Amino acid sequence: MRLRRAITNLVETGPLLKEGMASGNLKVLANLLGPAFRGLIMETQKNGPHTRMPVGNTALFDWEYRQDKEQLQRLYEAAKRDQWNATTDIDWTGQIDPYDPNVMLLPNDYLIMQDHPAFKSLSKKEMATQRHAILTWLLSQFLHGEQGALYAAAQVTSAVPWMDAKLYGSTQVVDEGRHVEVFHRYLTEKLERLYTIDDNLYVIIDALMRDSRWDMKFLGMQIMIEGLALGSFATIRAATDEPLLKNMLGYVIADEARHVQFGVVALRDWYVQNDALSERERREREDWVFELTLLMRNRFLAHEIYDEYWAHAMSRKAWDKLVLGSGLMKLFRRTMFKRVIPNIKRIGLLSDRVRPRYAALGILQYENERDATRMSPADMLVPA
Ligand SMILES: [Fe+2]
Ligand SMILES: [Fe+2]
Repeated sequence: MRLRRAITNLVETGPLLKEGMASGNLKVLANLLGPAFRGLIMETQKNGPHTRMPVGNTALFDWEYRQDKEQLQRLYEAAKRDQWNATTDIDWTGQIDPYDPNVMLLPNDYLIMQDHPAFKSLSKKEMATQRHAILTWLLSQFLHGEQGALYAAAQVTSAVPWMDAKLYGSTQVVDEGRHVEVFHRYLTEKLERLYTIDDNLYVIIDALMRDSRWDMKFLGMQIMIEGLALGSFATIRAATDEPLLKNMLGYVIADEARHVQFGVVALRDWYVQNDALSERERREREDWVFELTLLMRNRFLAHEIYDEYWAHAMSRKAWDKLVLGSGLMKLFRRTMFKRVIPNIKRIGLLSDRVRPRYAALGILQYENERDATRMSPADMLVPA
């Protein structure tokens, strides 16, 4: 049975491999093949309670303790000032009733299946069950992403070459730990359910964890995944009626805005001001970022929801098409790329060589978006 599933997965992984070659960079493709094999074909992440991942970055000790990066120092001060305690600052006492029509967990536009005839024939109760499932699936992915962010932040803190960045990174480790805490608590106590990690999210995390170069990890996590997280959290926060979730996401978003800002400040310094990359290294980073963009754009397919509710009604291919065209995914893509594309430009990785590829995806239009992650002093305050 496992073999049959692996073979089906292999066949269906074709589009990913095609995407993996879109940049034509064999090194980038080679970096993705291992994670894709483990995540999409063997589904390593679903085969037990743990996954062991060797991580090979080098810790850099700095005996000079020089602190001269003013922007990073400001971020560090903001992070210390705005720490919050999930146990005491959030009111966890309310209960959630997924069938309460007055407190919609998610609006109808967010339900992947809403326009499908099979969905329209469901009873109100069955629709509410699927609403609950989709929110639970989304927040489960946030939780798994936060676990990845926690380990990536710890690795980057040890590897980054500047003391100011190490000090700031130490606050991000605490922040990400707290995010794991709140998403896990909300899922287990309030929604009473947890989904496994999405295969494609696993591929991205696997690839980032194993890369031994600190700036590649940093680029993938701080610019791409954090940008995705910030966009997704803001989308859900605006959409839900559920007060505890709204409140909790407000706190998390304030932290994430700092994290993306950290990514932009540090990589702009390294790539643009320090000009630390050779032409070949720069091209590899440009191609890597483009591959991650493709993965994030096309590959969050909620197969766990499909397996549970819709496998009897349609093929996985038909489901994938439905998901990618759904209002929810369109909204996610827009809010995510509005944040990610301008930041790719800010760190100097949107060269004339790669611009046509982004234009072909219809997302180059976001390059001059206002800096959605730049923080005014008011933004940096934790919401009441
Ligand atoms: Fe986080
Ligand atoms: Fe973060």
